[in-house]
Amino acid sequence: MEYGFWENLKRPIIGLAPMDGVTDPAFRYMAASKGKPAVMFTEFVNVEGLARGVERMLPSFFYSAKERPVVAQLFGTETDSFYKAAVMLCYLGFDGIDINMGCPVSKIASKGAGAALIRNPNLAKKIIKNVAKGINDFANGISLEKAGVHKNIISFIKKNKNMFGGKDGVIVKNSDRKIIPLSVKTRIGYDEICAEEWAKTLISTGIKTLTMHGRTLKQLYSGEANWEVLGRVAKICKENGVIFLGNGDISSLDDAKEKIKKYGSAGVLVGRATNGNPWFFKGKEPTLKDRLNVIKKHVKYFEKLSHLPFQTLKKHLAWYTKGFEGAKEMRMSFMQAQSGKDVYDVIEEFSKKIK
Ligand SMILES: Cc1cc2nc3c(=O)[nH]c(=O)nc-3n(C[C@H](O)[C@H](O)[C@H](O)COP(=O)(O)O)c2cc1C
Repeated sequence: MEYGFWENLKRPIIGLAPMDGVTDPAFRYMAASKGKPAVMFTEFVNVEGLARGVERMLPSFFYSAKERPVVAQLFGTETDSFYKAAVMLCYLGFDGIDINMGCPVSKIASKGAGAALIRNPNLAKKIIKNVAKGINDFANGISLEKAGVHKNIISFIKKNKNMFGGKDGVIVKNSDRKIIPLSVKTRIGYDEICAEEWAKTLISTGIKTLTMHGRTLKQLYSGEANWEVLGRVAKICKENGVIFLGNGDISSLDDAKEKIKKYGSAGVLVGRATNGNPWFFKGKEPTLKDRLNVIKKHVKYFEKLSHLPFQTLKKHLAWYTKGFEGAKEMRMSFMQAQSGKDVYDVIEEFSKKIK
């Protein structure tokens, strides 16, 4: 397996973590424009759904060239479906593919996917092998049809090709076929910590990049991320030439840099601290004007790009409206909004008052 773009990233690597329902194309676009993390990930997408031809899953993979390097994340259990999804993601021009082995949500883990794979290392290894095969077969010229990608998915991609990578990055040409890197994102254990043994299992598959969140599945998001354990995994990864990213509870850029130094990781992925804060990666506090402009842009891109209902935008609107005079009133008005236009109207009214 290859290091791909990971090898060329400036150290330390401070990237945007995948968050389902949050790092959709609109938020990724905002983060790319305002903060430019070292790398970003799509929301995770289910491989079995893709294999059944469920086109509505594809907008999670819309991305713009501005986001590069951008990694697509997959979850599931069926190895054959992982293979097809891997070929498809290569075709869409992603910089890398990541496999989710860390989701603790019961509807996913109860099916054996996400963090449940920690208890099923044999399946985890087969999944990695099949994704690697998909990546190799793509580099060697296989077509979507030949790889068995569902016809609905192929026709959706062909109809919406400008949505994948922007107008310059559209769909990989034959001459550009190359092996892209494969990574895994996981947790430090299922109900008990087994991070070191688990990391060694994953490393034995040949992956070159690993992210670990410092909590077990059982902990969900309770307690604190265990950075001491992550530090031990960082050491194992370093000894094996694997790029290790720690994850969990990073609160600021300084905190990220401190943790990287103290625990010896190549970098970190940051999740919740970026909520309502696409500027996070610049480490700069936005002005009120910046904030209002970003809300308008986020709404515009959400309406243009997102597959999600308008209601799902409201959590972003609530996150943006904190820490300034009138924030609470604005937040309450946003909660009544039914469309982007309603949001613009609230901002317009507010702007008149502060002039
Ligand atoms: C709303 C939400 C959605 C998430 N979705 C995903 C996902 O799709 N894939 C994934 O690997 N992790 C997902 N995570 C986990 C985060 O990537 C990250 O591991 C976790 O939030 C801990 O990092 P933080 O403390 O910086 O937020 C999600 C977390 C949250 C809060």
